[in-house]
Amino acid sequence: MLKLPGLIDPHVHVREPGQTHKEDWDTVTQAALAGGVTMILAMPNTKPPIFNASTLDLALDSAKRKARCDYAQFLGAGPDNADAAAALAPRAAGLKMYLDSTFGELRLDDMTLWMPHFQKFPKDYPIVLHSESRTMAAGILFAALYDRPVHIAHVSLKEEILLIKAAKERGVKVTCEVCPHHLFLPSPPSPLPPGEGRRGEGRLTVRPRLATQQDVDALWDNLDVIDCFATDHAPHTLAEKDSDNPPPGFPGLETLLPLLLTAVALRRLTLDDLIQKCVINPRKIFNLPEQPETWVEVDETAEYEIRAADQFTRCGWTPFEGWKIKGKVRKVVLRGRTAFEDGKVLAEQGYGRNVRL
Ligand code: NCD
Ligand code: ZN
Repeated sequence: MLKLPGLIDPHVHVREPGQTHKEDWDTVTQAALAGGVTMILAMPNTKPPIFNASTLDLALDSAKRKARCDYAQFLGAGPDNADAAAALAPRAAGLKMYLDSTFGELRLDDMTLWMPHFQKFPKDYPIVLHSESRTMAAGILFAALYDRPVHIAHVSLKEEILLIKAAKERGVKVTCEVCPHHLFLPSPPSPLPPGEGRRGEGRLTVRPRLATQQDVDALWDNLDVIDCFATDHAPHTLAEKDSDNPPPGFPGLETLLPLLLTAVALRRLTLDDLIQKCVINPRKIFNLPEQPETWVEVDETAEYEIRAADQFTRCGWTPFEGWKIKGKVRKVVLRGRTAFEDGKVLAEQGYGRNVRL
């Protein structure tokens, strides 16, 4: 039995308030614990989005009643909430800025709308950017101009990881995360070969898009530039994914650790690196407290197939259905109490703590 510290996932879409048919604070924290994740940072693109004191309270009230693991909630940057967001910073995980289009209403196109946030948001709390390709180059320039840390969400392209590497070498305060799906799922041939129905176009829709094998290889070749692994757990129901207008996003909380442990077994990654990118670096970047008496027990030798039917997420599917993996979470202890054991979530609703209180 292998003992790991509790994992921190800095990029989770909880869906509450507003879209609890996809997920809520109860199911998402069950999925987290089942995946060996003991702390989640929740994204603000809910309905309504979390962007001021009253919407922050709305999310935190639900979380307080329902969360089974520890958490903090991001604020979203809007066109005119820079003062409010800066004032609320100590109560939030950080500020999320959507600079490219994706699921939800929060998007800042015009760079003049970025400026007040970069000026006002306190430098000891992170600004997380959804910024792809050339938008990412602009975001990194902003980090340099305003001399403040930024964290780039879900890096997926070779040009992106190389740009971040170069910026780090010049001392720009930039960190980044990569999602398992961008490490393990290259974009499929288009159109899909016959028989690929279960992994159809709608199910494979995600932002950033799945990239080429060359991009995937570049991420693996630059593991030292990647600060964190984050799931971007973005649950949508199967009916929604298989509809004519599929929303982008994959669930990921329950497959993160098994996929990474399989990579460790294949010697593509070291266990030290896994702990660095799933615990130590996110704690440092997002200024998070240690969780005392918290650990995950893993059976490294257990081989099995990923099955949506075994998952706790409400969305009911996984892009990794049928994948053969090695490494199973047996037990999770959170702040001295057994929170998950042998397939059962034992932490009750409300046990989770807001780490920004
Ligand atoms: C996310 C979602 O569904 O909220 N979707 C996604 O494809 N990643 C939004 C996002 O993180 O961009
Ligand atoms: Zn996301």
